[in-house]
Amino acid sequence: MQVKWTQDLSVDVKEIDAQHKELLRRISGLDSAMKQGRAREEIFPLLEFLEEYAVIHFRTEEVYMIKYRYPRYQLHKAKHEWFAEEFAAIRKGLEKEGATPEVIVRSNNLLITWFCSHIRTTDAALGAFLKPKIVKL
Ligand SMILES: [Fe+2]
Repeated sequence: MQVKWTQDLSVDVKEIDAQHKELLRRISGLDSAMKQGRAREEIFPLLEFLEEYAVIHFRTEEVYMIKYRYPRYQLHKAKHEWFAEEFAAIRKGLEKEGATPEVIVRSNNLLITWFCSHIRTTDAALGAFLKPKIVKL
């Protein structure tokens, strides 16, 4: 599956878009590393970076939500928490069994399918809420 940021994924908030671009770039790197069966030494740093960056990114969105009193904050935050749990489970699977087809499918489902759909729906709704409130995006 192609993982690339395209204009239709824009949520109209510059900082959030920039982080989404970087996340998708890293997800793409991890996806190819796993599919090419590259060594654990290569896969694990990618995974660690991604996990850390995802936390930073979610925090950025949540700070916007708090600052502008976003009414769906709790719901959106719960989705981020779910992502973090699923990510940790995938990492454990990788540590235990390596990049098996099952782990790759689960990882793709979360990082590509879930994440892109989260951007298009949940983050897009946040962007639409923030846009009129932030003078300079
Ligand atoms: Fe989000």
